[in-house]
Amino acid sequence: MVKANDNYLKLPGSYLFSTIGKKVREYSAANPDAKIIRLGIGDVTQPLAPAIIDALHGAVDEMAARETFKGYAPDLGYEFLRNAIADNDYKARGCDITADEIFVSDGAKCDCSNIQEIFSLDNKIAVCDPVYPVYVDSNVMAGRTGTYDAKTETWSDVIYMPCTAENNFAPELPKETPDLIYLCFPNNPTGSTITKAQLQEWVDYANKVGAIILYDAAYEAYISEADVPHSIYECEGARTCAIELRSFSKNAGFTGVRLGFTVIPKELKAGDVNLHALWARRHGTKYNGAPYIIQKAGEAVYSEAGKAQLKQQVAYYMNNAKYIYDGLKSAGFTVSGGVNAPYIWLKAPNNMTSWEFFDYLLTNVNVVGTPGSGFGPSGEHYFRLTAFGTYENTVEAVDRIKKINL
Ligand SMILES: Cc1ncc(COP(=O)(O)O)c(C=O)c1O
Repeated sequence: MVKANDNYLKLPGSYLFSTIGKKVREYSAANPDAKIIRLGIGDVTQPLAPAIIDALHGAVDEMAARETFKGYAPDLGYEFLRNAIADNDYKARGCDITADEIFVSDGAKCDCSNIQEIFSLDNKIAVCDPVYPVYVDSNVMAGRTGTYDAKTETWSDVIYMPCTAENNFAPELPKETPDLIYLCFPNNPTGSTITKAQLQEWVDYANKVGAIILYDAAYEAYISEADVPHSIYECEGARTCAIELRSFSKNAGFTGVRLGFTVIPKELKAGDVNLHALWARRHGTKYNGAPYIIQKAGEAVYSEAGKAQLKQQVAYYMNNAKYIYDGLKSAGFTVSGGVNAPYIWLKAPNNMTSWEFFDYLLTNVNVVGTPGSGFGPSGEHYFRLTAFGTYENTVEAVDRIKKINL
């Protein structure tokens, strides 16, 4: 008789944002007049930039004529986009990455959850704690994480690297040697970053122990400080130990448009197996490519007009981040992040748990954030607010939070 993949049954509870959504829906239904402001999920609110809209329209028109119509995209993505990525995201930053090492996809969520498929189930993963939940959950689904301890909210076969106020929310090299190391900087959820020298330590470590770093740089566009690396390939030796994941969601507002890419250098190996070839095989077999229209929109991200418009969009969100950071700090909250990332990480007041503070804010000031404990045990007592709202909503939310009397 058919059997389901029981690894899925090991997943505790529902996906964090489903739980938040349910709570907000229930509160809204019971309080239909409440003006709820959502600074929870990391979704953008600004419309697509004009340069991108123009490219989308142009590509749609191309699809309407026999001479310019496009069917299936090339396996790795269109060359015009991969060239633009290689030139702007890598060569311009002194990184030795070529267009044929770039695999275009429909976003970083799929890539960061699918990439583990090309590695053996015996590999041990290391993750930051707190962490973007997709890295762990996708490994649970694959059966790589052992058993779940509900009390500690940890998996027996996962190496957790606590990121706390004590270490400035930057992970330390783990005591136990991992095979796959998930790093995300600028970080979701803490908004923290590490310097190029710190990242170089990770690259040296991975090369030394024979591990591979899965480097999620989805928030790269928000970096404002000079010594924070935009790509792991800025570090020496990264070509032999790192895969980089990128997204167009946060730098260009493509959360609903869907576009991302993964970089696998040609010399990257697991033992004597070439990983570029393996991912190419996987990509070719299981994926039929991001739509031509969307890849043309992605190309426009790198046009002069696109770059200028998106710089403004990022600045708009970072202005929100500053408003949240300054406002909450002046009100006496302990806050971090928000300088190189669109996330503000704040300590729940009065030793409240993350979910207690979530409920408190929802019911008292109708502001929705994300409980830090949903990202891992070290996130307990913390709370994430995003800068992706409108400026008006951000100001109102912060002003409401400032008025609470705890
Ligand atoms: C760290 C991180 N990686 C990946 C993603 C997903 O990006 P995409 O929209 O490209 O799937 C997110 C989305 O919030 C994220 O926070």
